[in-house]
Amino acid sequence: MPTIRLDKFISERTEYTRSVIKNLAAKGEITVDGCIVRKSDSKINSESAAVTICGETVRNAKFRYILMNKPCGYVCSTEENDGPSVLALVPPQLRSKGLFPAGRLDKDSCGALLITDDGDLAHRMLSPKNHVPKIYIVELAEKFQNKYVDEFAKGILLSDGYLCMPARVKAVENCNKQAFIELHEGKYHQVKRMFAASGNRVEKLTRLTVGGLILPKTLGFGECLELLHKDVENLFVPPDFEVFCSEFFSDF
Ligand code: URA
Repeated sequence: MPTIRLDKFISERTEYTRSVIKNLAAKGEITVDGCIVRKSDSKINSESAAVTICGETVRNAKFRYILMNKPCGYVCSTEENDGPSVLALVPPQLRSKGLFPAGRLDKDSCGALLITDDGDLAHRMLSPKNHVPKIYIVELAEKFQNKYVDEFAKGILLSDGYLCMPARVKAVENCNKQAFIELHEGKYHQVKRMFAASGNRVEKLTRLTVGGLILPKTLGFGECLELLHKDVENLFVPPDFEVFCSEFFSDF
């Protein structure tokens, strides 16, 4: 059976330090499989043990995955230099050491953001070779033009000389200033710069998907959803862009 020290198990999954865990164990605040365990160096089964600390269940999974509907005004950084960090919005019961936003959304953008403490997964997700696509919906200052479809498919040349990878773009039906766009890369301000290079301007940007993770319409701004391991595996199985766009408004 996979064993682990109780204090290591708890400290990897919560914000408690090992010394605090030791004290709490001595006070009878930790249970394993329903029994109080006073010695924090006890060995437990990391896969099956049901552990609680101060009455709260400690999850068994080593890593935490949170899908947030990022609101405007928050920064995708662990620090608070340019404004409040998205991490401030993670509710206390989902907090654990080492959480960080996997990928970036601008301060004035909103939508799907994965927050995790799994560095390997974030690395795989952000690696150019995996091309995890992301779908955004944008509001434009000027009318959407059909020529964008071909221009974006060929690869937009940004003002700094960077030639973007081919991207798909599609006008929102009956709404001539809104469009869906799918990117396979994530350069700085990329969506905004792509539309700017085409002579338009993004006024509002919302990310709807990160790979196969789809922002639930019921998740309000600033709200978080803890993902199950099977949802995270979906990350690498993205929806089809055309199907996603055509179904997007169907359940409103
Ligand atoms: N592209 C942008 O311009 N901004 C974002 O936040 C994400 C993609």
